[in-house]
Amino acid sequence: MTDTPNPREELERLRAEIDRHNYLYHVLDRPEIEDAEYDALFRRLAALESRHPEWITPDSPTQRVGAASASVLAPAAHGVPMLSLDNAFSEDELRAFDARMRALLNQDAIRYVAEPKLDGLSVELVYIDGRLTLGSTRGDGLTGEDVTANLRTIRAIPLRLRAEGRPLPARLEVRGEVYIEKAAFLRLNRSREADGLEPYANPRNLAAGSLRQLDSRVTAERPLRMYCYDAGRTDGVRFESQVELLTAFPSFGLPVNPLYAVCETFDDVTAFYRKVQSLRESLPYETDGIVVKIDRFDLRRQAGFASRSPRWAIAGKFPAEQGVTRLLDIQVSVGRTGVLTPVAVLEPVRVRGVEITSATLHNEDEVRDKGILIGDRVIVQRAGDVIPQIVGPVPGERTGAERPFAMPKLCPVCRSPVVRLEGEAAHRCLNTACPARIRQSILHFASRGALDVERLGPKLVDQLVDRGLVSRPGDVFRLDRDTLIGLDRMGPKSSDALVTALEAAKTVALDRLLYGLGIPEVGAHTAAILARHYGTLERLADASPADLMAVPDVGPQTSEAIVDFFANEENRRTMAELLEVGLRIQAPAPMDAAPEGPLTGKRFVFTGTLASMTRDEAGRRAAAQGAVVVDSVSSKTDYVVAGANPGSKEKKARELGVAVLSEDAFLALLSRHD
Ligand code: IVH
Repeated sequence: MTDTPNPREELERLRAEIDRHNYLYHVLDRPEIEDAEYDALFRRLAALESRHPEWITPDSPTQRVGAASASVLAPAAHGVPMLSLDNAFSEDELRAFDARMRALLNQDAIRYVAEPKLDGLSVELVYIDGRLTLGSTRGDGLTGEDVTANLRTIRAIPLRLRAEGRPLPARLEVRGEVYIEKAAFLRLNRSREADGLEPYANPRNLAAGSLRQLDSRVTAERPLRMYCYDAGRTDGVRFESQVELLTAFPSFGLPVNPLYAVCETFDDVTAFYRKVQSLRESLPYETDGIVVKIDRFDLRRQAGFASRSPRWAIAGKFPAEQGVTRLLDIQVSVGRTGVLTPVAVLEPVRVRGVEITSATLHNEDEVRDKGILIGDRVIVQRAGDVIPQIVGPVPGERTGAERPFAMPKLCPVCRSPVVRLEGEAAHRCLNTACPARIRQSILHFASRGALDVERLGPKLVDQLVDRGLVSRPGDVFRLDRDTLIGLDRMGPKSSDALVTALEAAKTVALDRLLYGLGIPEVGAHTAAILARHYGTLERLADASPADLMAVPDVGPQTSEAIVDFFANEENRRTMAELLEVGLRIQAPAPMDAAPEGPLTGKRFVFTGTLASMTRDEAGRRAAAQGAVVVDSVSSKTDYVVAGANPGSKEKKARELGVAVLSEDAFLALLSRHD
């Protein structure tokens, strides 16, 4: 093929044309051409670009799918936290929300916008001067994962915003839900089954798994879509209400769910709740309720926030879906804190497409209060994402062979006496050396939100604990190759890999460590707040209850739990051991100190001798674009820049699969963003 008289013009025309058809399809839901015509336009553009690679820009429709990414997903901080929603489980609870809002805001009536609650995965897209520069998952609400490469493959997401004659905002942070349509999900599963592959569990998990791929070519093959419904930081554009936002988004090319209601009275809200519930099965996507939001942003600001959710919005959940099956047995599991939990073993039953085989029963009182006997036919329910629950026995179906459940008197794992502490519903095993407790605390310590050592899984931890090789977190860092090779299913290769992973995990962010220590009441969210507030483990360990209470989101119960934790001899020993084995704790970067830039949050390590500048200078230039410069290489590192004679850091980067840049590549990266 040869060039047309003005190839440059044709290239621009093709790009605009393709963007327009995406817009017609995903935003206006009014496609004008067949898939085959679209593909033809696309191929024409790709051919033109292959003859003129110098004209390829990242926002070209041909650039949606990149190559495999070399390292793990990088963290991406949210400028404005991404919160969750409070739930209402009935119309009465929705009404109570409205009453609360009217009282709080001193209004006779409030206008709400109600939308279906999409059962997908919430993400944030950052558009700078109209260009998609960053896309991230919600994560813990403060920091998610950088999944830009994967989000770029979703055709519903514009790579550049439509200007439509007005200046584009300098910054627009868009939030919404990535999801998979039910029909596309079924099609995909049918073809998997035809190939003899295990089908995916449900659309939501598939969407989540697809977005967290390391190779965006895999994501590109998944039928992901997106609807936008919220904004984070905005610069150069202002929305004063949800209606305004939902009207403006499509004009920027951002897809908005056309099904929503502007509710002038509360009756409009209940009408919409019933409408979506009746449409539920026929809607193309999964929804588990509606979201009701105050329309006016000035009223939202007045209403403000509770700790993890805004006061001005609520999710109105649909009643849970139920099924009936047999309770085969009740087993008891021992958790990290020694709490014994009865777990129902069920005859497998499908509830809304998900197979349920077990359910938690929380404690002995719950089993008794629900009147459940082992062997009963029981009603089970699945409410949204919540772990399946047993509602109660089916009356009139007993045979007389059923038997009551009782908590064991001895711990099923270590045989020490089980106690029920004064005022507690839980039975506990108080033996801190109980193998079940040790196993769970080690697994927690190695879990994703903590030190993230994936190779330290349940089977391996069982062996390590059973053989007395590990009894506290610090012990895992003393494991060496020879010891590991002696274990079941551990060859030289996997042993080496684990040793390397453990070495990398020694460099750990303070919040992850705090979470991993398993301080009662301290989840990932509180751990992040504490880390940012105190900066070091020592300062937190020395904090008084009053001091802790002054930290936002930390209540009396949490402060007491923290003080108790650090006063405990065993815990002090655990921490001393961790420092002894060489744990390097990284202080969190204060949120607002890191400048915003294209390299924001990317972790850089510099090594070797650079030709055109010193390492310090290189670090300052990267930091000026928002990068974080760290000393040692771990799996969390995004780039290692290697000059002459780089030594061990470069080697380690290669072992861990972290991208290694030459000085030239680094300079190119800088100037690309200058
Ligand atoms: S608004 C401040 N609107 O529900 C919260 N959320 O439980 C702003 N979700 O994390 C969220 N559909 O993932 C909003 N139409 C909708 C939604 C929606 C689904 C999800 C979202 C959020 C979660 C909260």
